[in-house]
Amino acid sequence: VQTLTVLGLESSCDDTAAAVVRQCTGARAEILSSVVHGQTELHSAYGGVVPEIAARAHAEKLDICVKQALTQAEVGLRDLDAIAVTAGPGLIGGVMSGVMCAKGLSAATGLPLIGVNHLAGHALTPRLTDGIAFPYLMLLVSGGHCQYLIAHGPEHFTRLGGTIDDAPGEAFDKTARLLGLPQPGGPSVEAEACTGDPKRFRFPRPLLDRPECDLSFSGLKTALMRMRDQIVAEKGGLTRQDRADLCAGFQQAIVDTLAEKTRRAIALYLEASPSETVIAVAGGVAANTAIRAALETVSAEMGARFTAPPMALCTDNAAMIAYAGIERFRTGVRDGLDLMARPRWPL
Ligand code: KG4
Ligand code: ZN
Repeated sequence: VQTLTVLGLESSCDDTAAAVVRQCTGARAEILSSVVHGQTELHSAYGGVVPEIAARAHAEKLDICVKQALTQAEVGLRDLDAIAVTAGPGLIGGVMSGVMCAKGLSAATGLPLIGVNHLAGHALTPRLTDGIAFPYLMLLVSGGHCQYLIAHGPEHFTRLGGTIDDAPGEAFDKTARLLGLPQPGGPSVEAEACTGDPKRFRFPRPLLDRPECDLSFSGLKTALMRMRDQIVAEKGGLTRQDRADLCAGFQQAIVDTLAEKTRRAIALYLEASPSETVIAVAGGVAANTAIRAALETVSAEMGARFTAPPMALCTDNAAMIAYAGIERFRTGVRDGLDLMARPRWPL
């Protein structure tokens, strides 16, 4: 039995994170610590993440996160077997901050360095939290990504379809901006939607007429803008209820679209894989309660088992990076000090 203890670093967007994860071969992995420093307040005045500000904040916070993660896990650098770090895709300045920090730690300790794909981190999270076996169907749904994947192994994913334009998280963030709600838009739009009537405004359901698993979300913001401008032209401004109804209608369109496309993805996956069908969901948007509930219903109807990580492990964190590092390490992967930060890195 080989026990692996890995430190993970994450800095590809607007969360600086460090975590320690331990796994004995054949046993479930254990999160010994998971520290996340968000940057929401640094970017709030700008209505979105400013890459330069993000990179500088990562560079300042990474050391502190690492110290806290090691202290909370009650392990020292010498107890570690490897350092895993997000090497892309993401905002390049932030990814570079993380890679530099990991290289420094690796050079100083002699520990092996493992570059992790951020998307693989999200996609492998259900194995960390729920111990599910390969293969499984995965919906990865975040601020920058939306795709259906079949996970065959830690390094092996096939894509069934995905968004042809915006990601749902991006659509939530833009909706919040258009309605003057705080960023990140997902949680604030979801909170407004709770008190809204999803039937008052009819948003489009793009690509539902097409049979495949591709999705499109960019039309939603155009529709929202038109509805908002019409209310403003008629009444001079939006009431609290108008805003809630717009959010509810918008969220319902995303829920319906993801539910229907997930139904098709499960059907496609069932054709290819007659064994137990597990559909897993991960990424920041998977933290949305209405979306999770709809996917759970569709999965039950299709006879598939549904699993979603706890909310804190859906949004960006370093436990998923440490865990993906463990999986990569077990396949024999090691990176050197020439590891490159990559702004784009498809799975
Ligand atoms: O995975 P993540 O933390 O970062 C990446 O994009 O990789 O996802 C962040 C995205 C943001 O767009 C945020 O608005 C969205 O996830 N999000 C949500 C919710 N919580 C976060 N979207 C909808 N509902 C939520 N509750
Ligand atoms: Zn992410």
